[in-house]
Amino acid sequence: MNTTMIKAKLKTIIPSVYLSEVAKGLIEVENFLIEEGCRPSSPVLKDSLTSLVKAGGKRLRPIMTLLCGFAGKFDRQKLVPAAAAVEIIHTASLVHDDIIDGAEFRRGRKTLERRKGRIHAIAAGDYLFARAFELLAALKEVDAIDILTRSAVDLSLGELDGHLFRRKMNIKKSDYFKLIGRKTASLFSAACRLGAQISGTSKREARLLANFGWFIGLAFQAYDDILDVIGNERSLGKPAGSDLREGFLTLPYLIAMEKGQFVSEMKIVSSGRASKKFVKEVVLKIRKTDIIERAMEEARGLTEKAIDSIREISNPDLENTLENIGSYVVQRYS
Ligand code: FPP
Ligand code: MG
Repeated sequence: MNTTMIKAKLKTIIPSVYLSEVAKGLIEVENFLIEEGCRPSSPVLKDSLTSLVKAGGKRLRPIMTLLCGFAGKFDRQKLVPAAAAVEIIHTASLVHDDIIDGAEFRRGRKTLERRKGRIHAIAAGDYLFARAFELLAALKEVDAIDILTRSAVDLSLGELDGHLFRRKMNIKKSDYFKLIGRKTASLFSAACRLGAQISGTSKREARLLANFGWFIGLAFQAYDDILDVIGNERSLGKPAGSDLREGFLTLPYLIAMEKGQFVSEMKIVSSGRASKKFVKEVVLKIRKTDIIERAMEEARGLTEKAIDSIREISNPDLENTLENIGSYVVQRYS
């Protein structure tokens, strides 16, 4: 993608004050991902890594790192590798997550494991994860390593929680929010804090932006889990209802059970005896209830908390831009 295409893509969420800088930064992030992120000595691995990067994605985390770089002095030279490292950690975690979930599709194509085998996919995820920290270390920003190692620990714990909760009926909404805090919000929060720290803003502003990232991450994951129920295969890049089929009782299902709805269906799913057809029917039925709207309200409430977190930052343009990101996160289709 060239700058004009990236600008067109970003225009709806990023107002003109920052559009050019962020578009330029994002182009550089894309190039950096290919040239630096995918540069192992093994040509076999290089093909896989390049295919992962080229499969795209929303690039929301690196966008947030770049944007939070406007909290102080915007330093594109440092922000680009930092934003790329965040995206590389995210990509590594998805490669491993697909192996753990036994997923067949990611971003509209077969997962790396399905294309190249399990060992290859594990090695590719490991490589990306290690490479991200190598690139961060080269930045010589002490805080950068600190911020992202803490998030990587959380990601691992979150993934583990997810699997401890799989096919369990006694999960509460508080368990769910703790889980998505670890597996998703921690990296969003780190992405924002990293950009802010690199810009040299005050610790207080960096903390406010990290809080923003935390709540946006929660809203993002909650909305993602809603999309898994209401979305279609084309926009999701995988079949709708994948979470339920894999035995993950996410927000919409927990809201349903809290109200005593669909409990027997959830028991069947949790027993591992549900057929694909059964899961599809449950998903279609849930779509017709007010469960989705209730889940949406929770996701919107989280974006409001995110926006409240940045009421006191000193740059009003940044505050407005991040508000737009908040709205986008709970209105997107994929
Ligand atoms: C996707 O969740 C998974 C994550 C956001 C976190 C995955 C974390 C790990 C595998 C552990 C850390 C590993 C490394 C290498 C850093 P999901 O399954 O709900 O989303 P999906 O529907 O997109 O698969
Ligand atoms: Mg998954």
